[in-house]
Amino acid sequence: MRSLVTSARFAVCTVLCATLVTTACQAETQGSLYAALGGRSGVHAIVSDLIDRATASHSTARSFDGANIPRIKRLVEEQICALSNGGCEYTGDPMRDVHAGHEISQSEFFAFADMLDQIMVAHGVSLGARNALIAKLAPMARDIVEAPRQSPAP
Ligand code: HEM
Repeated sequence: MRSLVTSARFAVCTVLCATLVTTACQAETQGSLYAALGGRSGVHAIVSDLIDRATASHSTARSFDGANIPRIKRLVEEQICALSNGGCEYTGDPMRDVHAGHEISQSEFFAFADMLDQIMVAHGVSLGARNALIAKLAPMARDIVEAPRQSPAP
């Protein structure tokens, strides 16, 4: 009987411990992406560099002509903070609405993602954190990239 009680206690303890460890690990992983990106100042610097570069590079600048750059910087920063569990709420418009009509191509999207990766390297962000952020942004391509406009039939 005593051994049954001991076994039951052990089982409960094992489940509780496993739950606590899992919760702690999840909290660490979630909280740490924002931290691994350099926290508020790191994300601010990365986004600022990204948009400066995207608006200057011939591979991505086209669609930014006439755009409100301070607004884009503020909202991309907010969005990355929200995605990396930095405690922000994204207050901008949906990705599909914002990018609609700019005819952003897949190669422009890849060039933008590649710039982001290079800028994160320059800011000393680890490979794991770079991959984690890119993995969160990549699915947005379906809302951002538009099929090239069809040429009118001859
Ligand atoms: C995952 C990648 C991207 C994210 C997370 C992103 C995010 C954003 C955000 C948050 C805004 C501002 C939203 C608002 O005004 O409410 C924005 C605007 C804009 N983005 Fe992106 N973007 C991405 C990729 C791109 C790419 C690849 C291009 C072009 C090469 C691009 C071009 C623009 C332009 C032109 C605007 C301003 C649109 C307008 O005001 O008419 N974005 N983006």
